[in-house]
Amino acid sequence: MKSLVFAIVVCLFGQLHGDSVYKQRFLQQYNKMHDPANGYFSKWGIPYHSVETLMVEAPDYGHETTSEAYSYWTWLEAMYGKISGNFTGFNAAWQNMEQYIIPVHASQTGNNYQPWKPATYSDELDWPSEYPSPMQFGVPVGQDPIYQELVSTYGSDDVYSMHWLLDVDNVYGFGNLPGSCELGPQADGPSYINTFQRGPQESVWRTIPQTTCDSFKYGGQHGFLDLFVGDNSYTQQWKYSNAPDADARAVQAAFWAYTWANEEGKSSEVSATVAKSAKLGDFLRYALFDKYFKKIGNCVGPYNCAGGQGKESAHYLISWYFAWGAALWGGWSWRIGDGAAHFGYQNPLAAYALSNVDAMKPKSATGASDWQASLERQLEFYAWLQSAEGAIAGGATNTWNGRYGTPPDNVTHNTFHGMFYDWEPVYHDPASNRWYGMQPWSLDRLAQYYYVTGNQKAEAVLDKWVSWILSELKFDNGNYQVPEWLEWFRVPPEVHVTVTRRSSDVGTASATARTLSYYAAKSGNKNAKNRAKQLLDGVWKHQTTKGVSVEEVVDSYSRFNEEVYVPYNWKGYYPNGDVIEHGATFISLRSFYKKDPDWSKVEAHLNGGEAPKFTYHRFWSQSDVALAQGTTAFYSMNNDFGSVD
Ligand SMILES: *[C@@H]1O[C@H](CO)[C@@H](O)[C@H](O)[C@H]1NC(C)=O
Ligand SMILES: *[C@@H]1O[C@H](CO)[C@@H](O)[C@H](O)[C@H]1NC(C)=O
Repeated sequence: MKSLVFAIVVCLFGQLHGDSVYKQRFLQQYNKMHDPANGYFSKWGIPYHSVETLMVEAPDYGHETTSEAYSYWTWLEAMYGKISGNFTGFNAAWQNMEQYIIPVHASQTGNNYQPWKPATYSDELDWPSEYPSPMQFGVPVGQDPIYQELVSTYGSDDVYSMHWLLDVDNVYGFGNLPGSCELGPQADGPSYINTFQRGPQESVWRTIPQTTCDSFKYGGQHGFLDLFVGDNSYTQQWKYSNAPDADARAVQAAFWAYTWANEEGKSSEVSATVAKSAKLGDFLRYALFDKYFKKIGNCVGPYNCAGGQGKESAHYLISWYFAWGAALWGGWSWRIGDGAAHFGYQNPLAAYALSNVDAMKPKSATGASDWQASLERQLEFYAWLQSAEGAIAGGATNTWNGRYGTPPDNVTHNTFHGMFYDWEPVYHDPASNRWYGMQPWSLDRLAQYYYVTGNQKAEAVLDKWVSWILSELKFDNGNYQVPEWLEWFRVPPEVHVTVTRRSSDVGTASATARTLSYYAAKSGNKNAKNRAKQLLDGVWKHQTTKGVSVEEVVDSYSRFNEEVYVPYNWKGYYPNGDVIEHGATFISLRSFYKKDPDWSKVEAHLNGGEAPKFTYHRFWSQSDVALAQGTTAFYSMNNDFGSVD
């Protein structure tokens, strides 16, 4: 009896001690990220993609920002609200997001959109061999079934969605400040830009960064348009594109802010922002449709595959992007969805919130029911793509090769609602399913959904995924290794995976720990809980003055001198005078990098030295660290982890 009492006291003490450790770690990391000396935010309060400027991965410069960084910021602030009881930061982050990365129209174009003909078909480019490809007229496209209800619900033609990329410090000098078009290098504020434009073969190293609002002031005779579209009539125009996983993550953050504020009796403090998240979710439905609103399923041959009526064009999965644009001076506008979906973008918790939580149901007539359909479809998708080992493979597409092509035999026997398995969805350099991070990013959301609802389909996928990852984590003396690269074999229902490279990356390790924590909190799986804590403690050893990070060797920086495809006889200029012409390279289009404090490291490598080493502080990764530690703090508090041994 006495020993039992003693055991209970030790147990309680251990738990309280554990809580405060993880809570302190969350606060310590949060404070580092908000310390102006550490450089996470611009003078407009915009989070940079990374503290470091010399950074090329998906963004081509560290002081750009992405909708991804914004979505992590809202989530970070939601958790700060839970831990401190102060939700002001969450509302402020959303406000900043709305101000700077949700575009307003660059000019009044009037209502020229024709929802029965949302866009004109053009092949995705098999760049550069068949480049540029002309638009093809006469290819059937479907109708946009949500436009009318969005206009009548919100009383505006504007799309309430994030553009994916901002040049925060206006280094390219386009000066596309919110609501403005090409104000130039003198403009003091964040500037909308785009990079990727040429289809799946294009790596960041081959991009030609371009303005989102093209008044032909920069670039060539037709601005940047004739680099990307083989049209004959060039019209001054603006266009934006959305990375739907980020908007979904912001919705997910709002769900947590709402839930946690409720727990603190403070729901009224966040209700205005939560309503905005429902609106974001309403427009995010564009991600659920085929690119040209064609019918979903066995859509082979651009001329053969019919356009969809009503919701026939909805695959209900969160696809890779959607985009919208218009002529600068009126006349026409367009919207497209995307027929290709990667498992890594799915977010069942956001879909659940938008269909089952009253405060977050979109106001439009069919918004909530579309998200209910999406929720069910996403759960089915994970199971369909699950490998024999447990990791989730690639994705599916309604448009083979981005041009409604004929898929190979090996993917035509077992389709997903008539969509084809795509082992490398959307982009190929590097392969989109190689990076391990997609696994915990997406499975964390599935685990959160499971934690909230106890859904059995989610549980079945997670049981298998968790046993896979537990077998692939390596621990040695308090150090850890998580997978970094994955390789895939065969097709569903018999897909296989192997881990081909490992690392101690703090971001993916933290996302893994958080997935395991949510899973353990619901299932009671002690092994998952203990491994989560081991990862969190391992990650925490990698303190830097600015956050938590490990040094990495960046092999890809050998590509700074790589040639970028520019057609012969094409010549144009960036606002700073950098010349765009045949023979241009990544660095020749970005002379500003030569003034970067870290440039000498890259230059030495280009001159034959070793690959450079960097200790990066990416906003998403630093947020993942904080969010994983914080999750453990309050699920221990709620005793969801069960007793501590
Ligand atoms: C809440 O946090 C904000 C910053 O996010 C701060 O300005 C404000 O003073 C805080 N309010 C309280 C009551 O602590
Ligand atoms: C399917 O077949 C194509 C064409 O033969 C081949 O290139 C591809 O690697 C196969 N895919 C898988 C996952 O085995």
